[in-house]
Amino acid sequence: MKRLLIIIFPISMMLFVAACGSGEEREKTSSEKESLSLTEDQKKYYLETGNKITAAVFSVLSGELMGAMQADGVQGAMAYCNLQAYPLTDSLSNEFDAHIIRLAERYRNPDNRLQTEMDRKVFEEYDKMDADRLPTAERVKLAGDKSVIFYKPIPLQPQCMACHGPKSAIGEENLAYIRELYPEDKAINFAPGDLRGMWRVEIKLRTDL
Ligand code: HEC
Repeated sequence: MKRLLIIIFPISMMLFVAACGSGEEREKTSSEKESLSLTEDQKKYYLETGNKITAAVFSVLSGELMGAMQADGVQGAMAYCNLQAYPLTDSLSNEFDAHIIRLAERYRNPDNRLQTEMDRKVFEEYDKMDADRLPTAERVKLAGDKSVIFYKPIPLQPQCMACHGPKSAIGEENLAYIRELYPEDKAINFAPGDLRGMWRVEIKLRTDL
């Protein structure tokens, strides 16, 4: 009996390890399938469109934000880190039939918290990534049968520190003002390169591609 156990135990351990391994495999292929069920042409279109939209919005937003900081100081510029402040967001939404938002785990405005299971999964993946991989970690995912979601990480840059850095970079008075406007604020203590949040652009599925 003892000898039998000596033989059976290692075999069952091997089976157990193999089963765990294939479990991981199965997990991987099912999450890959979300993007695999888009054709290559569709995937390329949504990657390009998502990148085009987010680059355009970001360049206007950061330009105006920096201008407002110089003209009116940090408190005067507070409203400029909000996509709704820009007519460009609206016009791109109309042009591409898209819904453009930014989401974050440590949010300033609670409207920007992670919303769906897919948001959380993608954010978690970004959160574990090395900083140098973030700029090219766009993802496109099929959402139901009517739309595609484009995700892209938003790393913190040095010029964001005045409002998202540590207390020493923000200043007591500005921090008090932020807390007044956003009592739930969690968006401080970031450093350049940290994952600040992510773009989420939901674009209507095109069947002609
Ligand atoms: C003048 C202050 C200020 C600066 C500078 C600033 N932000 Fe913000 N940021 C805010 C405010 C205020 C909000 C909340 C906007 C809203 O109500 O939707 C915000 C929101 C965000 C959000 C949305 C998620 C959330 O937390 O609500 C992201 C992402 C973000 N900022 C990234 C950046 C990045 C990246 C930079 C630098 C390029 C930057 N911010 C610079 C004040 C600032």
